Amino acid sequence: MTTINKITVLGSGVMGHGIAQVAATVGYNIVLRDIEQSFLDNAMKKIQWSLGKMVEKQKVSQSDADSIYGRITPVVDLKEALKGTDLLVEAVPEDMELKKKVYAEVDMYAEDKTVYASNTSTLPIGEMASLTSRPSRFIGLHFFNPPQLMPLVEVIPGHLTSSEMVNLSLDLIRNIGKEPVLCKKDVVGFIVNRIFIPLIHEAAYCLDRDKAEMTQIDSAVKFKMAFPMGIFELADYTGLDVVFKASKEMISRDKKVINPHPLIKRLYSEKKLGQKSGSGFYNYGSDNKYERVNLSEKEAEKYDPIAIVSVAANNAAWLLTNGVCDVGDLDKALRLGMGLKKPLFTIVEEFGLGKVLLTLENMSNKYGKFYEPDAYLRKIAS
Ligand code: 3HC
Repeated sequence: MTTINKITVLGSGVMGHGIAQVAATVGYNIVLRDIEQSFLDNAMKKIQWSLGKMVEKQKVSQSDADSIYGRITPVVDLKEALKGTDLLVEAVPEDMELKKKVYAEVDMYAEDKTVYASNTSTLPIGEMASLTSRPSRFIGLHFFNPPQLMPLVEVIPGHLTSSEMVNLSLDLIRNIGKEPVLCKKDVVGFIVNRIFIPLIHEAAYCLDRDKAEMTQIDSAVKFKMAFPMGIFELADYTGLDVVFKASKEMISRDKKVINPHPLIKRLYSEKKLGQKSGSGFYNYGSDNKYERVNLSEKEAEKYDPIAIVSVAANNAAWLLTNGVCDVGDLDKALRLGMGLKKPLFTIVEEFGLGKVLLTLENMSNKYGKFYEPDAYLRKIAS
């Protein structure tokens, strides 16, 4: 019987520091590990800022915030970081070669009892698990940015993951105050990123094809599609390094999942990574501060985001056709992981299922097979 007391989070970036804070909030002792002290110092500053916000909004008291902060120990030495740990949560950048290197190193020091969990956003869990000393005790736990505010965690078993690990993970996620959704198949992008990442590329095509402005597209996504942010705004917020790496890994495994737009690669190459670097799709006032883009209902009226709705519907339909999740879990995942204010298929109905199908058919004729409507859409339309 595995019990989780001590957790080590590997990687102190946007996701790692947030996951550490979330688990420390409910009382777990956390080791936050990164390869340089300066990364850890930066992460601890972010945790302090976030806890400050929680105190300001009266979600926690100042003394609780101090205790949460005190439960997180930043450590550079990997051997020390893994000593006595029950659960390792790996949140290093999305690059299979890097992950392989990290797990090989982790395997040298981890104790037999340690469960491995990866916060990968897209990489196959089974493939990573099979590289380690404990494939049956390896699972995907995919948090959403910012982990402190987003309630969803996708739980993804690989083909070798034991059912004990699945149950342990579902309990753990509930214990840390989050809502799990079980991703029934280890597919590229899991549930949410299968929808989110392709939409960024599609929105970039809308700039070219419709000669629309970014704030018009984003306003339409926010006010007509019930998203809490525009899609370019969300990409900048997520980080274009994350988006580019996730896209690259996804495309290398499944050509049907994304219609890649060169702008994403260009912004990444130019180090325009979004809010974290001061510019991305948009320009920001200062590096690495929480900032929102000015979007309005008036701007939303200038653009019909039908292509974006249609691509979202098509990828969601693929998930349903392939038994990755059911409609209930799809809605839950998009509501809790991306803050959608309405179920996706309600949004599709508002735009018109017939119009969505026709859009996909026209786009498929014009731009290629990527847009071919999924069988599920044809079925519900008939
Ligand atoms: N900790 C504590 N507080 C935080 C915070 C954090 N990490 N980040 C932001 N805040 C604060 C802000 O400072 C702001 O407070 P303030 O007004 O006092 O400054 C408050 O939270 C948010 O208020 P807003 O009015 O700006 O925002 P919203 O009501 O829209 O909520 C949001 C913000 C929860 C981020 C919402 O916009 C949202 O859900 N956006 C979508 C996010 C999303 O889709 N995430 C998933 C991306 S995909 C992903 O992560 C997967 C990966 O694999 C790629």
